[in-house]
Amino acid sequence: MTYENLRLSVTDGIGTLTIHRPDKLNALNSATIDELDRAIVAMGSDPQVAGIIVTGAGRAFVAGADIAELAALDTGGARELSRRGQEVFSRFESSHKPVIAAINGFALGGGCELAMACHIRIAADTAKFGQPEVKLGLIPGYGGTQRLTRLVGPGHAAELLLTGEIIDAHEAARIGLVNRVVPAADLMSTAEALVRQMSANAPLAQARILDAIRRAADAPSSALYDLEASGFTILAGTEDAREGTAAFLEKRAPRFTGR
Ligand code: COA
Repeated sequence: MTYENLRLSVTDGIGTLTIHRPDKLNALNSATIDELDRAIVAMGSDPQVAGIIVTGAGRAFVAGADIAELAALDTGGARELSRRGQEVFSRFESSHKPVIAAINGFALGGGCELAMACHIRIAADTAKFGQPEVKLGLIPGYGGTQRLTRLVGPGHAAELLLTGEIIDAHEAARIGLVNRVVPAADLMSTAEALVRQMSANAPLAQARILDAIRRAADAPSSALYDLEASGFTILAGTEDAREGTAAFLEKRAPRFTGR
């Protein structure tokens, strides 16, 4: 399989997928999105690959969706572009092999969204993060509003999304956007060591763990409330709960009832 904007390699069980459009800071045009789709499917089904590292060539991880393409979109094209990006990034998230983003530089817009679709994020101390779409009169279209909110919580998500501010790697770690920050020179060796550590463990267990994590993050809050209410209902009817509440009231009844 040939790729114009990606470089793929497999060494010692580690699949490395490098986005390679350095003269455009690896901006994601439609061709690159299509190649990312093919690459994640190929790495996922390659028995030689135990874990996948995603990184960028040059001084950027990915500086966002390709603004030249965005400028030419009509309404129909915009929906199609957004749905296609969401679909492809979801394939990274639903990979049954661990996917680690090794963020070497700018991770802006679609770049930050791609990093968030990976399971783990390691940032070089030179990396920069942001969702600057609002400055273009847009919003993130590749799952960023949802994944950012889940990762850093609604307060930090609102601040980043509404200001379009760019933050450094240490701030990204502080708010939970990345797992850890390492010196730029150690970025790839750190990510590779992590894949090796994981690949010593059972692949089927890893696949189940990743599936469970994804489902937890995907569950709509109404379903979680249902789950919580069902659990509460079942437990409230048990002997343990009846005895526990009775024992509490027995000791404290005078204070609670005024007796
Ligand atoms: N889409 C298309 N091209 C992009 C791009 C993007 N998202 N980001 C950078 N590029 C291109 C630039 O147009 C330039 O190409 P050129 O030399 O052919 O003109 C090249 O990459 C280098 O970028 P440049 O802006 O000259 O580098 P810089 O160091 O001055 O600034 C950034 C770096 C990341 C701050 C700046 O490129 C930027 O703001 N990019 C857009 C980020 C963004 O808004 N992303 C979200 C899009 S929804």
